[in-house]
Amino acid sequence: MPPSKTGIDVLLKEERIFHPPKDLVEQTHVKKWMDAHGIKTYEELLEKAKDLEWFWGEISKELVGWSKPYTKVLEWNPPWVKWFLGAEYNIVCDALDRHVKSWRKNKVAYIWEGEPGDREKLTYAELHGKVCQAANALKSLGVKKGDRVGIYLPMIPELPIAMLACAKIGALHSVVFSGFSAHALRDRVNDSEAKVVITCDGFYRRGKTVPLKKQTDEALQQAPSVEHVIVYKRTGGEVSWNEKRDLWWHEVVDGQKKTCETEILDANDFLYILYTSGTTGKPKGVVHAHGGYAVGTAFTLKWVFDLKDEDVWWCAADIGWVTGHSYIVYAPLILGVTSVLYEGAPDYPKPDRWWSIVERYGVTVLYTSPTSIRLFMRYGEEWPAKHDLSSLRLLGTVGEPINPEAWMWYYKHIGGERCPIMDTWWQTETGSFCISPLPITPLKPGSATRPLPGWTADVYDEEGKPLVNQGGNLVLLTPWPAMFRGLYKDPERYREVYWSKYPNVYLAGDVARIDRDGYFWIQGRADDVLNVAGHRIGNSEVESALVSHEAVAEAAVIGKPHEVKGEAIVAYVVLKRGVEPTEKLREELRGHVAREIGKLARPEEVWFVSDLPKTRSGKIMRRVVKAVVLGKPAGDISTLSNPEAVEEIGKAR
Ligand code: PRX
Repeated sequence: MPPSKTGIDVLLKEERIFHPPKDLVEQTHVKKWMDAHGIKTYEELLEKAKDLEWFWGEISKELVGWSKPYTKVLEWNPPWVKWFLGAEYNIVCDALDRHVKSWRKNKVAYIWEGEPGDREKLTYAELHGKVCQAANALKSLGVKKGDRVGIYLPMIPELPIAMLACAKIGALHSVVFSGFSAHALRDRVNDSEAKVVITCDGFYRRGKTVPLKKQTDEALQQAPSVEHVIVYKRTGGEVSWNEKRDLWWHEVVDGQKKTCETEILDANDFLYILYTSGTTGKPKGVVHAHGGYAVGTAFTLKWVFDLKDEDVWWCAADIGWVTGHSYIVYAPLILGVTSVLYEGAPDYPKPDRWWSIVERYGVTVLYTSPTSIRLFMRYGEEWPAKHDLSSLRLLGTVGEPINPEAWMWYYKHIGGERCPIMDTWWQTETGSFCISPLPITPLKPGSATRPLPGWTADVYDEEGKPLVNQGGNLVLLTPWPAMFRGLYKDPERYREVYWSKYPNVYLAGDVARIDRDGYFWIQGRADDVLNVAGHRIGNSEVESALVSHEAVAEAAVIGKPHEVKGEAIVAYVVLKRGVEPTEKLREELRGHVAREIGKLARPEEVWFVSDLPKTRSGKIMRRVVKAVVLGKPAGDISTLSNPEAVEEIGKAR
């Protein structure tokens, strides 16, 4: 392999190819669509789909019903996009309202299972009724079109209900993952200036209860925009109560009418804000809009996972992340499928919890992360072998690169060597899959294969020249319907982060390689963003959390390969003068980060040093710290002001 111009090495070489079963191919939505449009080959489909206005116009016809038709499919003024201009729309019309007027009214929308084993099924009609009640409750509290509502709930049906209730009345939801800390909630609520926050008393995780209301109370001590907090009773645990602000869900929602007019919006009006990590300590508020997002998410779910009415779909992510927003809430509901929703830990009470769920409900398509697969791999194949998994027909992964060993294990022990694996590459910003196989695509374990029809992706060197078979920056060259519409209240950061490196080209922030067959191999982040268990955490977020501790003067945080989580957090800390580096302090700092951000960001290792490698302008060189930790050459250190710090990093461990 020639040396890489970007300095990005490509190590993975995988040559196995898995062809999809012929009988499966014939039945797929994509094959049928190609036949109906006289398209013979996949190459021809990709070519035709380059006419974005034609392609997305055709696709949208089958998926959404506009309240008023659009006059133009696409307006692209880089970096600003509008889709389906002139259309009037609300995503809830397709996700719910339409179904209750059809035979799907009594179809199950969600099969829910709580961690302690409680179970519930919600039909489309029941879900619709509950969403209307929650929407009426929000209205009664003065929430209007354009207002923001913070949602801090675990994986219980009230989470999608609350989101859909906001969307129904044209308010924007801002869901904060229930594993995030009070401080993370506070920052997000304040940035979005939420008027109402919806939470619960607590929830179950690994047999214990997590006191969510307590965390909410702590967060809202400094949240001036919040007028009301709606609290769903999940565990019945004790909570403190603010009479002026707090309302029980059962008191404010349950008595409401089960009908509520859906607010018809402009198709480009905003649907939600979802915060994601960037390279600074401040999370980015990614904004999505109703119309394009509906088309983009429903299309990708329909074609990639080939969902049909008889399928039982399980996207085993948390709704607190974009995966759940797009593929547990909006897309499956638009397609009218039945989804599984599970509250708890994957290995609780035993490592076969998931497999018991697959068997109990006859799950046909399962979508999860490589981290979960590696976790199950470690427990061993005897756990899935206890269950009948023959209902499965397709599998998927997302969130991080999947190593071929984990791919093979998933293929063999979960898919029984019959289920193709859809490795979907996408981001909070993209809203929907962008690079992914379809069930007709020959698969190479570890590759997300090729851009879907309707997308153009490439890998560029630093100057913007396309690279073949060399690692470089992953870019998307044309707009796509579920594309984000900017960062909340921060157009400058939007331009700077995504659109400034190459003119009019979207910089994904990932390193990738395209092989000679045009297959994409995603290698991980190019920027200072960690990927721990498929979750994005900015190095600087963890560093800010560390330096917010009174004992810490400076910190450098890097990621190191981890067998299960993909990446583990390693922190180097310079203590303030006079502070003793003790084992107790080390533990305290780990706990401090968990409290500041959430347990997912708790550093695996904390090391004390007297100095960190810095440039002459005082910038900490994480690259150098990382090289030393990984036992690699430190590279060019001529710009360092204190090369002796490099040696100390090496010795600290
Ligand atoms: O680095 C890529 C990785 O996850 C990042 C996006 O993270 P987030 O916005 O939190 O969304 C995660 C769920 C969509 C990407 O920049 N990533 C996502 N999918 C894959 C992936 N890396 C490799 N292969 C994938 N299939």
